[in-house]
Amino acid sequence: MPFKTIIEPFRIKSVEAIHWTTRDQRKKLLKAAHNNLFLLSADDVLIDLLTDSGTGAMSTHQWAAIMEGDESYAGSRSFERFRKSIQDICGYKHVIPTHQGRAAERILFGVMAKKGDVVPNNTHFDTTRANVEFTGAEAVDLLIPEGRQPALLHPFKGNMDVAALEALIARVGRERIPLVMLTVTNNSGGGQPVSMENVRQVSALCRRHKIPLYFDACRFAENAWFIKLREKGYEDKTPKEIAQEMFSLGDGCTMSAKKDGMANIGGFLCTNDDRLAQQEKDLLILTEGYPTYGGLAGRDLEAIAVGIQEALEEDYLRYRIASTAYLGNHIAAAGVPIVQPPGGHAIYLDARAFLPHIPQEQFPGVALAAELYLVGGVRSVEIGTLMFAEAAQMDLVRLAIPRRVYTQSHIDYLVEVILEVWESRAQIRGMKLTYEAPFLRHFTAHMESLGE
Ligand SMILES: Cc1ncc(COP(=O)(O)O)c(C=O)c1O
Repeated sequence: MPFKTIIEPFRIKSVEAIHWTTRDQRKKLLKAAHNNLFLLSADDVLIDLLTDSGTGAMSTHQWAAIMEGDESYAGSRSFERFRKSIQDICGYKHVIPTHQGRAAERILFGVMAKKGDVVPNNTHFDTTRANVEFTGAEAVDLLIPEGRQPALLHPFKGNMDVAALEALIARVGRERIPLVMLTVTNNSGGGQPVSMENVRQVSALCRRHKIPLYFDACRFAENAWFIKLREKGYEDKTPKEIAQEMFSLGDGCTMSAKKDGMANIGGFLCTNDDRLAQQEKDLLILTEGYPTYGGLAGRDLEAIAVGIQEALEEDYLRYRIASTAYLGNHIAAAGVPIVQPPGGHAIYLDARAFLPHIPQEQFPGVALAAELYLVGGVRSVEIGTLMFAEAAQMDLVRLAIPRRVYTQSHIDYLVEVILEVWESRAQIRGMKLTYEAPFLRHFTAHMESLGE
């Protein structure tokens, strides 16, 4: 590209208004929401970076495909399109639709894992961990040590520690490990990619021990783009060829189509194993629906069939990753501490380094997220002491970028807001918890500012 300016590789055909509020209004709204951004009305948010899941904009081709939705209960045409499109990318024999990613996880682990088993992953996403543990099995994270140091630069911080996996297999025995999982990209570890070399090594080890390898493939297209950019030998391959090679090294996958499926709802589970597929379909019928719709409408299957191919388009991926990096690099250049290098779908602010005067027990991530809303109407999410209590290894604030929704000027606005908060960081005060639910407390917690 001869020019530096990042432009969106699309033009806008339909728009949705966003709403300005004044600082005074936001102060009152924050108070009414007990400083918990989950408790705000979305209409009171100017730029919503709570999640990249299900929040993307669909293309004209997806909307057109939606009109083609075949809502037949069994054997629908839309399922055939869905299956073909997914198989074209991942090549697995069985494609089982689900209403979203966690439903695929529940069915997979419900069939494959049991009490006493151990499931290794680079880093389990929270729903993945919960679904493993629900079966009585143990979820073990085996991320490379570099992946746990926010400021450290490394091209593939999502890689699995292969030596640690080998040691785990030797220690607990092959028969207690029903499968190994690789999350691409690694959401809980800063949206960092996994290299093809790492996938190859993990796959070879699994095959040697006859352990199936599954991908948590939510952001497989972003991962493929990072491989193209950063791994020798992949410069001239298309993202689709890279994704196809990666999937060929495994035996199945779970997927939330709300991310790189470019859809607002949906997911699927894939496997090459006929016997497992039968058991999975039996469970699917019990709770999700018949195997040709799995809890989705025919129109949803159509949106995913088109969206999952669009996620692999080079113009789109180039813009997506460049735009996220632009945000991260601009604030980092001014000294703002972030998880480095910028991830695929989000920028993670390091709240402990941002607010060193706020101790961990006063929730620096919650205080920073509240301030970003107060100053600029921006909604983010704390991933730290409120979310994980004593288990929190870091206090991060995640700015997740919805797909194809915000323009480069929105990103410039975000840079300005974050830098304004950075300038006045010494005035930010910690928070105290005044109400917490017995589990998953971050969704409903009430917080009070210690500055009032
Ligand atoms: C890595 C990863 N796995 C699984 C899931 C669960 O998907 P869903 O929210 O569709 O249930 C998510 C969702 O954010 C995710 O990021």
